Amino acid sequence: MIWVVGATGLVGSELVRQCRNRNIPVLTDRIDIRTMDAVSSFGRDKSIRTIINCAAVTNVDAAEEERRRAWETNCCGAENLACLAREKNALFIHLSTDYVFSGTYGVALHEEDQPNPCNYYGETKLAGERAIAQQRGRYYIVRTSWVYGMAKNGFIRSIVAKAAAGTAYAVNTQWGGATNAADLCDALLHIVKTPDAPYGIYHVCNPGAVTRYMLAEMGCGFAREAGLIDHYEPIIPVGDDYFSVRAPRPSWSYLSPHRFEKAFSHPIPSCQDSLKQFMYELCEAGKKL
Ligand SMILES: NC(=O)c1ccc[n+]([C@@H]2O[C@H](COP(=O)([O-])OP(=O)(O)OC[C@H]3O[C@@H](n4cnc5c(N)ncnc54)[C@H](OP(=O)(O)O)[C@@H]3O)[C@@H](O)[C@H]2O)c1
Repeated sequence: MIWVVGATGLVGSELVRQCRNRNIPVLTDRIDIRTMDAVSSFGRDKSIRTIINCAAVTNVDAAEEERRRAWETNCCGAENLACLAREKNALFIHLSTDYVFSGTYGVALHEEDQPNPCNYYGETKLAGERAIAQQRGRYYIVRTSWVYGMAKNGFIRSIVAKAAAGTAYAVNTQWGGATNAADLCDALLHIVKTPDAPYGIYHVCNPGAVTRYMLAEMGCGFAREAGLIDHYEPIIPVGDDYFSVRAPRPSWSYLSPHRFEKAFSHPIPSCQDSLKQFMYELCEAGKKL
């Protein structure tokens, strides 16, 4: 049995969908992970063999204000789940983020690179990673980035909708890697099936560094090709000072998924291929942008 923690979120709901499609028994109960008592009284008597933690405070700007909730969820919550997993000798898979880095332009970030978060969300996620490692259980930390998916209208869907309706602006000075939630969850379930690689940190995103502007332009082109939109206005590229946001974002946080692909013999589709596929699937599912 897999316990998907954060089952209502963008990643969690895709993960539950894929588990059900593959007839993998799954628990989706929402327990407040901030207290160990709640976590252990829920998990103690259940036959959980794997815990996948998709729960987090993910609003990067809100995390600057609601520091306590962000810390307790992203650091203490992760530690509590790792502790339960160790007690039950269960496999623990935890999602982390490219925002533990604020890298230098042009160099893909590897697992052994020195983290250096530039906002509080990144700090809490890094602290969570370290707390999990200290438990010395059977764990994989999967850092991912710029996730989009069917379950929520994130950056890509909303910018394509805006460009189809009129003028849209996107930042062209921050680089990262986009991740289709479907590919991410496929990778997570691949780990569950073959947890043979050494425990530790792995990066998972669709290969190909992009800016938000590049992603938006690509998304619009594929959306038109798939028949989701008839027309769109070219996106206007802007600098990162164009939008006023509370938390700074890294200017480069592109993760190299090479170590994951090699260790698990599991290739991840390119950013372009996966985004194109996503737009066709959105169209087939009759979903709105
Ligand atoms: N989305 C991205 O672009 C992105 C990028 C890099 C890394 N990640 C990482 O990927 C993971 C999943 O992200 P996501 O985008 O799927 O997040 P999301 O859509 O914001 O969902 C977060 C989930 O966490 C749950 N949650 C929040 N606080 C909780 C608590 N104290 N106890 C139990 N559950 C709690 C939420 O449930 P309620 O709504 O009921 O509170 C929700 O189900 C996170 O670890 C995130 O850091 C995401």
